[in-house]
Amino acid sequence: MTELPTNTAADRVPLPQEAWYVGAASSRLTDAPVAIVIHGQAIVLFRDSEGRAHAMHDRCPHRGVALSLGTVSEGQIACAYHGWRFDGTGRCRHIPSLRPEQPVRTAPVRAYPTVERDFYVWVWTGKGEPNGQPLPIHGFDRYAWLQGATALACEAIMPIENNLDICHAAFTHPHMHPQWFRAQAAGFQPTRYELATDPGGLTVSAPGTLLRFDLPDRVTVGSSETFRLVLHHVPTTPGRCIQHWLLQREPTHEPAAPIWSDKEPEILAQDRHVLESAQRAYAYEGDAFEQSVEADATTLSARRSIRLASQGRMEEAFSGNRSICVLS
Ligand code: FES
Ligand SMILES: [Fe+2]
Repeated sequence: MTELPTNTAADRVPLPQEAWYVGAASSRLTDAPVAIVIHGQAIVLFRDSEGRAHAMHDRCPHRGVALSLGTVSEGQIACAYHGWRFDGTGRCRHIPSLRPEQPVRTAPVRAYPTVERDFYVWVWTGKGEPNGQPLPIHGFDRYAWLQGATALACEAIMPIENNLDICHAAFTHPHMHPQWFRAQAAGFQPTRYELATDPGGLTVSAPGTLLRFDLPDRVTVGSSETFRLVLHHVPTTPGRCIQHWLLQREPTHEPAAPIWSDKEPEILAQDRHVLESAQRAYAYEGDAFEQSVEADATTLSARRSIRLASQGRMEEAFSGNRSICVLS
């Protein structure tokens, strides 16, 4: 049995800033710049002439126009207002209104460390240097995938908790989830599950269910042997986030680009419906109303680890022993 902490709401803090986040799916970044927001920071993504992805502050240092309104040519991004051009390091390379003999002297635009792997463009939003590389998606090159993204009007912590919430499916997912069908046939049954922590994250296992959380924002539902859904939850502006989803399909011998889908999976839309409702309660009433039960142990454990990571206490984030929980 797990003892519940008393002040659970105190652990509801924004996701850590010193981390790699998905900026965009690789297939969404082609010839044109792409505007994104992570942790309230406006960022423009673009590709240079070699196809390398870059991320920079989406604000021209001349008069503040979003660089994402501009165009990309010869590996540089040109502002849509007066045509100043910047390379992928953020350095200004050309100002059309200067005479040829006048040197370009402007402060660079902030460039964010950027890595492209597993068909995502990852952006490091921390102030310091990146702490390692983005976490690989296990077995990514051995399967075909379906990929998409949905904007959610709720804080990123909420879909993270939702995707680790082992007992919501019987209620939130009518006609969609096996737990709902089982509950219809036999009533809602208590489920025994195991919550195990390790230095990298936490794993929740129960008969027929496997959930994994990795900091800062990844939840993996299922395992590569069967069904697998990999979800990232990127904080954008206050009270909003983007859920990037990756659904495993058949095994492959050749790594291939995931197929992109603009259609929100119905099961994720069902989750979004309840989460956006809850966001309104937190936004208007604060979080002191929260009551928790033992079945919330997985979500509270993830919440606590996010709080510790946000405070720079990574070594404590997943400390603690294996624990067994029983829903009742
Ligand atoms: S505002 Fe960008 S070039 Fe003037
Ligand atoms: Fe759900």
